[in-house]
Amino acid sequence: MNLFQKILNRQGIQIQDGALIVHPDQVLTHDATGTLIFLQLEAIGLKRVKPFCVVYIDHNLLQVGFRNADDHLYLRGAARKFGALFSKAGNGICHQVHLENFAKPGMVLLGSDSHTPMSGALGMLAIGAGGLDIAATMVGEPFHLPTPTITCVRLQGRLPAWSSGKDVILHLLGIVGVRGGRGRIFEFSGPGVEALSVFDRATVCNMSTETGATTALFPSDEQARSYLRSFGREKEWFELTADRDAQYDETLDVDLSAIEPLIALPHSPDHVRKVSEVEGLPVSQIGIGSCTNSSYRDLMVAAEIFKDRSVHPDVSVVISPGSRRTLAQFSSDGGLDHLNKAGVRVLENACGPCNGIGQSPKSNGVSLRTYNRNFKGRSGTNDAQIYLVSTETAAVSALFGQITDPRKFGRYPEISLPDSFVHIPNMFLGSAGDAETVEIVRGPNIQPIPLGEPLPERLEFPVELKLGDNVTTDDILPGGAEMLSLRSNIPASIPYVFNRVDPDFAGRVDSLPQYWAVVAGENYGQGSAREHAVMAPMSIGMKVVIAKSFARIYRQNMINNGVVPLVFKNTADYGSVQKRDLLLIDRLAEQLQKGRIVVENRSRGNTFETILDLTSRERDLLLEGGLLASLRKKTSEMGAVRSCQGV
Ligand code: F3S
Repeated sequence: MNLFQKILNRQGIQIQDGALIVHPDQVLTHDATGTLIFLQLEAIGLKRVKPFCVVYIDHNLLQVGFRNADDHLYLRGAARKFGALFSKAGNGICHQVHLENFAKPGMVLLGSDSHTPMSGALGMLAIGAGGLDIAATMVGEPFHLPTPTITCVRLQGRLPAWSSGKDVILHLLGIVGVRGGRGRIFEFSGPGVEALSVFDRATVCNMSTETGATTALFPSDEQARSYLRSFGREKEWFELTADRDAQYDETLDVDLSAIEPLIALPHSPDHVRKVSEVEGLPVSQIGIGSCTNSSYRDLMVAAEIFKDRSVHPDVSVVISPGSRRTLAQFSSDGGLDHLNKAGVRVLENACGPCNGIGQSPKSNGVSLRTYNRNFKGRSGTNDAQIYLVSTETAAVSALFGQITDPRKFGRYPEISLPDSFVHIPNMFLGSAGDAETVEIVRGPNIQPIPLGEPLPERLEFPVELKLGDNVTTDDILPGGAEMLSLRSNIPASIPYVFNRVDPDFAGRVDSLPQYWAVVAGENYGQGSAREHAVMAPMSIGMKVVIAKSFARIYRQNMINNGVVPLVFKNTADYGSVQKRDLLLIDRLAEQLQKGRIVVENRSRGNTFETILDLTSRERDLLLEGGLLASLRKKTSEMGAVRSCQGV
């Protein structure tokens, strides 16, 4: 058996209707997606969360105005009342903190964040999902995962000096692209795995998300054991590896020894080149951190490069540690001092600039970042050029003031990893024994959540937007400090919907018809798992998206909110539908059963066929108006539902 099959066996995961029926052992959420989840749970009538759950405050810690502070307080109260652990602001980025403290081999983790796969570094099946899917598992419902293709990535050889986990995943992105991982789990095996530390594996798993993959998995071996030991958790380790004769759906061979320092050019993580090919471009900003590259290993490699040197005078260098424990260890080992004296700016243990929360580059600025996404505008500066690199490349480039192949630095700074990380007490707040008496404090920014509507029998709607390939959730509803303060206030976020791809859209909102549609190219909705990118446009009438293909989580978020994801049967039809065309779908319920939907283009007098490949459960969800409507119906039958207004 391969590793994935072994986890399915251990967990007793069954396949029904082409989907894996998963009851997670753990779930995680955070301040950017968690407020909606708990509002949904309140609407459903939750008493206590079923699986082990951690709520992280890590995304928007700027607290400009009262909104974020109110959201954090709401989440603290909800976690306490419903039985979740609460990770306080400053503890660090959810994926880094989860890996250090909670990830376990052989278990299943679901997270309302697309980079949840990072815990795959310890042999955990870790999957990102939309908020409503997470909310459903918290009340004990299973998560339905389309059966994935298992791709063995067989690693040979050993990484050369100056290449690290980031270069491995950039190499993979260069091969498969931002769509090549869809429907796949990348399972890493082969002789090259052994020498990769969990820190490197975590970077690889984290950024596997950028290929569109469901998740990535490494074995639980001696590397996993030594990582867990260093965090005082060796007791949680056991060996879990694929059998020597394991079978896979497909195999990809990668020679680690041939991987050079790599770089992703603007504006997509799969625009991968060798660093040596783009050397010499002056940079104005360098960011080291994000959930991808903020571990002790990364910080220490950077510190050794900066030791007794100064950052180039024309460059602003910022570093964001991944966790409080990482920072404490790094500080006690002297690394912080090297950074400080070199002129590096040290930010809070949080997502920060990765999501456009602070440190936006200057106009037309060139920013070199160790983060995982370089979508246009995500940094907060629309015309900035963002390049993605390893910590090694970022730190060496910071000394030269231009993109520099790190091998120019000379001898690779060997670092030793700690035997035991600093223990910090009271990082997490537990739930209350007297849950009934806990009052959840709701600030004025926390507004009722919109509900999806059941599908009508006949849908007539105009095409309001026609978009291209690889539209991201950032394009649909951006991140950034301003937007993240509206995560629990869907009505207030409406002026930002589609702002990046159609600046005039906000001006048309008041005159939109009851229902309207978006037409798009390939991979619609890639990027963040944020459900807001469906919920906000749904609340103002988006009922259908017709695309050449969808990103997995976005498609599921659409179904969960009662929005119909149609795929062009013939991609050439994409060219024939234009903005403002009036479309009609008749006999919807009947067509839904067949999985083929004929769309009549009334403006052009023709028809075209689309595919709606649904499980029977998904079909029911769409007809009922989405998962929240369905769960409310279920719980109201049990007499537990509350009014959606006011929660
Ligand atoms: Fe945060 Fe960026 Fe990761 S927003 S969870 S550091 S992708």
